[in-house]
Amino acid sequence: MTREQAVELLNTWIENDNLRHHCRMVAQAMEAYAGKLGKSGAEKEEWWLAGLLHDLDWEKQPDEHPNYALQHVFPELNISENVTEAIRAHAPERTGKKPETEIERYLFACDELSGFMHAVSLMRPDGFSGMKAKSVTKKLKDKRFAANVSRDDIHRGAELIYTPLNDHILFLAGVFAED
Ligand SMILES: [Fe+2]
Ligand SMILES: [Fe+2]
Repeated sequence: MTREQAVELLNTWIENDNLRHHCRMVAQAMEAYAGKLGKSGAEKEEWWLAGLLHDLDWEKQPDEHPNYALQHVFPELNISENVTEAIRAHAPERTGKKPETEIERYLFACDELSGFMHAVSLMRPDGFSGMKAKSVTKKLKDKRFAANVSRDDIHRGAELIYTPLNDHILFLAGVFAED
């Protein structure tokens, strides 16, 4: 599947601009981490794709997400098991699959934090540019801010990639600031 086809697929499944944007952000985060870890070109494409498609069925099948896409959409497409298993593992409480492989752990680690950092960026005049880890961790402690984002998942994600949360935040801020 080419990137163009993947974006087209995303746009047929998701109408909401915020959700489309979230998917692109997680794809960007995953691609950047793949690069940082020295992954090959083909692996980088998998990391990007897992990020882009992880919430594909969220809008149309919220109660069955991501099991609907895993059962009914991805099998019809030429998508590798690395990608589908990463998508399965980003929602362990719904699929029963915990993030274990590297791509699975990084997708879990990038998902909620990207969403949270996007919310923080909207509060800042310069968005992501110059965003410090502290601007994010302060908001994490404010339970009313982006209350739907699981703080536990954010902390667990950083643990899963063996990275201090501050470093994880700073890396992603740099990635998103380039956009
Ligand atoms: Fe999801
Ligand atoms: Fe997500």
